[in-house]
Amino acid sequence: MTHSIEIKNFDDYLRVYAFSLENNEQFWSEVANTRISWRKTWDQVSQCDYHTGKISWYLGAELNVAENCVDRHIQAGRGNKKALIWVGNEVGEEKIYTYQQVYEEVCRVAHALESLGIKKGDRVGIYLPNIPELAFSMLACARIGAIHSVIFGGFSAHSIQSRMNDCGAKLIITSNGVYRGDKWIDLKSNVDEALTSGCPTIEKVLVVPHRSQPKWELQPLDLNWNEVVKPFTPHIAPSHSSEDPLFILYTSGSTGKPKGVLHTMGGYIVYTSYSHQLVFQPQEKDVYFCTADLGWITGHSYLLYGPLANGVTTVMYEGVPQHPTPSRLWEITDQHSVNIFYTAPTAIRILASLGDAPVVKTSRKSLRTLGTVGEPINPEAWRWYSSVVGEDRCPIVDTWWQTETGGILISPLSGITPTQPGSATLPLPGIEPKIFTEAGKTLEGEGQGALVIARSWPGQMRGVYGDSEKFFDTYLKQYPEHYFTGDGAKRDAANYYWILGRMDDVIKISGHRLGTAEIESACIIHSDVVESAAIGVHDDLTGESLHLFVVLKSNVAKTPEISKGLIQLIRKEVGALATPKKIHFVPGLPKTRSGKIMRRILKKLAVREFNDLGDTSTLAEPGVVELIKQAVMGEN
Ligand code: WT7
Repeated sequence: MTHSIEIKNFDDYLRVYAFSLENNEQFWSEVANTRISWRKTWDQVSQCDYHTGKISWYLGAELNVAENCVDRHIQAGRGNKKALIWVGNEVGEEKIYTYQQVYEEVCRVAHALESLGIKKGDRVGIYLPNIPELAFSMLACARIGAIHSVIFGGFSAHSIQSRMNDCGAKLIITSNGVYRGDKWIDLKSNVDEALTSGCPTIEKVLVVPHRSQPKWELQPLDLNWNEVVKPFTPHIAPSHSSEDPLFILYTSGSTGKPKGVLHTMGGYIVYTSYSHQLVFQPQEKDVYFCTADLGWITGHSYLLYGPLANGVTTVMYEGVPQHPTPSRLWEITDQHSVNIFYTAPTAIRILASLGDAPVVKTSRKSLRTLGTVGEPINPEAWRWYSSVVGEDRCPIVDTWWQTETGGILISPLSGITPTQPGSATLPLPGIEPKIFTEAGKTLEGEGQGALVIARSWPGQMRGVYGDSEKFFDTYLKQYPEHYFTGDGAKRDAANYYWILGRMDDVIKISGHRLGTAEIESACIIHSDVVESAAIGVHDDLTGESLHLFVVLKSNVAKTPEISKGLIQLIRKEVGALATPKKIHFVPGLPKTRSGKIMRRILKKLAVREFNDLGDTSTLAEPGVVELIKQAVMGEN
């Protein structure tokens, strides 16, 4: 019996949602059949075991992800349709590629990769600005079955080195550099520095000459993109297995260094295509603009793979929201008649703080749907987005998900789900969220606690690259038979979800994810530092900002030089994203008897909430709190 999974209104949503949980395999089989073209169909829809952490979808099936994102749209007569609109940092700079042209570019890069000896399963590091060559490189890897690992341009030489060594990349693709607003970022020197410090698996560096100036210095492993990427000849897309790896993307957790989150081909493309269609409801002639950088999962899933799998016209922007003026995003919107716009709460808050004038001077009449992602959006920012940007006629989709989930799990469906400012509303079909109390019980109805997901979905991560235990230990162990998200959430009487933020030691600055452990291990390299604690403190614009509590050696006095040195060190080890907003020099840190830093207390002390420190009875040395308080009060 076939059952329609089409969703046109809220009643359909409720019906399909119930069906998706009752007939889970049938549901995911219909989704996969309707959205993706397969070379060979599956023998089994899924085999997922939360006791062992072994997750597989569409077993035995074969496909080519790049063919699904590009070639099949040409076969369907969309060859002349715009696929990618690239907008550069400077006003007036743009490049437009039809599906036919994207196909030709991807074929060129696929041949180039093969000519460099890159084979299926090889890892390719990509450290490029948000430029078309980045999209083509990712799709070319997907086409030949090489595993890409994109590193956001804001990360440092040290981060490149540790990621490339972790995944054993053979090739790194980079460019001489990029302007983000007025700031020049010298990507090439970061790669050179990483290689000098030691990336033994890298055989070649492929350099895209993005801006003619400044010229880069040719290193022994360097190859010029323009010489390696030859004129177009067709490239035959091979078949890959559904569970072949598609990419690795590093993300911060609460402990240790960033983890390589692994996604595989079939399930990922099914889920990104389905969720993109359902949440944003793109129509054939729509132009869709996601402001993310391809270096993040939002860029992977909803700038590139999801929209292109759906044959949508996708806009890619190289620059920053306020360059050269705060009207820029709305000018791009008008210029290209954008219908669907997707950005982060931080960008909305920063633009809102600059007033309505830069917005209302633009038309924005093409806009139909507005999305947000990356951190909780406060109701005031939501309302400003809805009323000023969207003139109260565009539904807001507040999309909750993670690098690990591959795609959106909880979100309104545009124009279908009634919204509430600040709520991500309801789960997508096939997704079964639950809330656990502190005592480890599932909570029915209203209440708040740890947000978990009760069963697998095709877009779920398959593992942590190179560490078979880590996936289970990090995500599946804490709440047996459930995937733990790391987030806290509240469920209201209408069953709507309100995401409360991270429950672990992960900090979100402007929606970017950082782990306290990686920042603290950078600090400790400083020869004057005994120990340190990194915490996230509420910030009206960036959501959270980074505060550091630092204990110096007893014979060392705090000086502005030490602060400067620490900031430089962290930027060098982690990246510019991790720049501390405030460094508090303190005589000690509040620790439990087992030596765990009580960040909860530091969070209060950082904002001078001295009277409300909560339970301090488990502290090994309660006296330290008073000393920290005095140090904080003595700051100017
Ligand atoms: C964490 C995941 C998902 C792509 C970008 C971030 C927070 C994400 C929302 C939202 C409240 C959100 C969560 C989550 N988060 N979206 N709509 N409302 N919080 O991916 O870097 O892997 O971060 O971002 O805390 O766990 P990520």
